Amino acid sequence: MSNPRNVLTLDEFRVSEIRSVPNATGELSNLLRDIALAAKHINLEVNKAGLVDILGDTGTINIQGEQVKKLDLYANDQMVAVLKRGISCAGIVSEELEDVIIFDDEMSCKSKYIVAVDPLDGSSNIDNCISIGTIFGIYLRKTKPGQPCTEEDFRLEGRNMVSAGYVIYGSSTMFVFATTRSVNGFTLDPSIGEFYLSHPNIQCPAKGSIYSINQGNYYHYAPEIQHYLDHILRKNQEKESTYTQRHVASMVADLHRNLIKGGIFLNPATNAFPKGKLRLSYECNPWAFIFEVAGGAATNGEQRILDIPFKDLHQRTPLFIGSKGMMEELQSFMQPANTMLGVETANAKI
Ligand code: AHG
Ligand code: MN
Ligand code: MN
Repeated sequence: MSNPRNVLTLDEFRVSEIRSVPNATGELSNLLRDIALAAKHINLEVNKAGLVDILGDTGTINIQGEQVKKLDLYANDQMVAVLKRGISCAGIVSEELEDVIIFDDEMSCKSKYIVAVDPLDGSSNIDNCISIGTIFGIYLRKTKPGQPCTEEDFRLEGRNMVSAGYVIYGSSTMFVFATTRSVNGFTLDPSIGEFYLSHPNIQCPAKGSIYSINQGNYYHYAPEIQHYLDHILRKNQEKESTYTQRHVASMVADLHRNLIKGGIFLNPATNAFPKGKLRLSYECNPWAFIFEVAGGAATNGEQRILDIPFKDLHQRTPLFIGSKGMMEELQSFMQPANTMLGVETANAKI
């Protein structure tokens, strides 16, 4: 298939955005380009995942004599490397790193941005050829640029986010990111290594028929979640609705599908994970930001995800996220009087 040149590449889209925003510095745009570069490298290795045991020597040395790394460590190293070489990131938080990385060179110090990343999400699915992904959130630092970041800058809060996105390594590879203006999706053309704008201005449908949850944990969920699930099944039985369950257990795959088609995703607290399983700064906040910009909503059952106060870098939270109408239905089972979804549109809050 030839490349349709009436479709913008990621770089062309970035330039068109810079042109349309008065006083844009291009710093955020450059940061997104750096992340997209890491994504292309990760994509290449993810595609070879099944060959590791064949080409590698018992999983430690490959035929080039290089150390064979676990893919999530490889993805982490790629992300850290591009952000270190670039000049648009002052520091990183990663699922794979217990501590933060501060870039204290003269140029990186001048950056306004901190990146939080889950380099490879859904990694338990790697061996099964199921779609996996990379998730990132871009936060404004709190101290003045020009000096290395401090501990204060890494007290990441959803309300300080300026952008978020994900890469899905699936039947095709897509790079999707949100700014406060819009959510746009780009599909990789592997023959020339370019991302093309395939999904402009993504809007999450207000209602959908998909619900995504690990229903095997039913008896480990709180009663209100059980009641909500019972309600869904009852409505289906009475032919009042046609909910359909779709759950891959790779949140990038589940949420990408729900974002486009409409749906709701639930990862509630369980006995095993009483505070929830998913991480706030590099899984839930980025997804909440993306869904809110696209017209959806995200909560932990008690408050909006983007309002959760910072406790620690790797803190966990329950996550309920999806189409606005479906989130309202869920909310009616949680706390009837609660106004967490607000009367304002989610977009207006960002
Ligand atoms: P990770 O591979 O980064 O640890 O994350 C896996 C996550 C997420 O992708 C998925 O939705 C969730 O774990 C599955 O959770 P359950 O085991 O509760 O189904
Ligand atoms: Mn993850
Ligand atoms: Mn991960």
